[in-house]
Amino acid sequence: MENMELPPRPKLFDFHGVSMTHYFTDNWENIQNFQARPDDILIATYPKAGTTWVSYILDLLYFGQTAPERQTSLPIYERVPFLECDFHILPPGTELADKLSTSPRLIKTHLPVQLVPKSFWEQNCRIVYVARNAKDNAVSYFHFDRMNKADPEPGDWNNFLQRFMDGKMVFGSWYDHVTGWWEKKQTHSKILYLFYEDMVEDTGRELDRLCSFLGLSPSAEEKERVRGGVQFDIMKKNSMANYSTNPVMDFKISPFMRKGKVGDWKNHFTVAQSEQFDEDYKKKMENTQLRFHTTI
Ligand code: PPS
Repeated sequence: MENMELPPRPKLFDFHGVSMTHYFTDNWENIQNFQARPDDILIATYPKAGTTWVSYILDLLYFGQTAPERQTSLPIYERVPFLECDFHILPPGTELADKLSTSPRLIKTHLPVQLVPKSFWEQNCRIVYVARNAKDNAVSYFHFDRMNKADPEPGDWNNFLQRFMDGKMVFGSWYDHVTGWWEKKQTHSKILYLFYEDMVEDTGRELDRLCSFLGLSPSAEEKERVRGGVQFDIMKKNSMANYSTNPVMDFKISPFMRKGKVGDWKNHFTVAQSEQFDEDYKKKMENTQLRFHTTI
């Protein structure tokens, strides 16, 4: 799609202790007052952890057979509204979610756990959280910020990596995000905590975990259809899943579906950067049992 004229890139500011841009706070009152329904499914992630992948899987599981026309007519970001997003080119996420006619409604958020609207907890909604190892997550975020004109300029990789370590990213610190949700999961049975690396390693196995969490029992044939449809190469070609219709992104700089790999960080981190990152990581993550794979 032609790139539209966009306002200058937004600035980061502190919002309740989390770095944010105005695109995700302009609509804050409606976000906080959002009325969740008991059967809503919230897909929660730090940016670039596998949100679109899981969104597409859930959409196919629920509506792949009952509403096949959705797959060819509606981009994924309209099927699964991004709750806190208010880009002024589409209605805000809260409005898109309010207007969704599907049941269940699938809703995406990047909010850290403490900022999730309280009705999701009151309604005891199911939540699927996806986490991705910090190094690959940082690399993916870097390329995304190069092409996504609605995020601050990433600057060069070295500066970006420092900012990532400092938690000065849109939606705040990766470390706080993944551990915050991990802690919440210990006391809240309706959170399924998935890992991007596990999904790459064995998509079918993670699909089974998802189905059992959601109480779904698709036939073997249906499961295979979903598994096939959500493979990276297939999704990359699917204009309703690959964001190519989204005007804030410049695919000439980098595609949204970029590599889809575990371990691409090795092509970006120098040895010195990796060592420094690991040392800092140990300190930041010393109080959690949460463990990631950085290779498979
Ligand atoms: S966003 O903007 O936060 O919603 O982005 P998100 O969807 O969370 O993350 C984008 C990264 O996920 C990769 N991706 C996949 N990997 C493997 N298989 C499938 N099917 C798949 N779909 C999306 C996508 O390529 C981005 O990662 P990178 O490393 O940049 O390729």
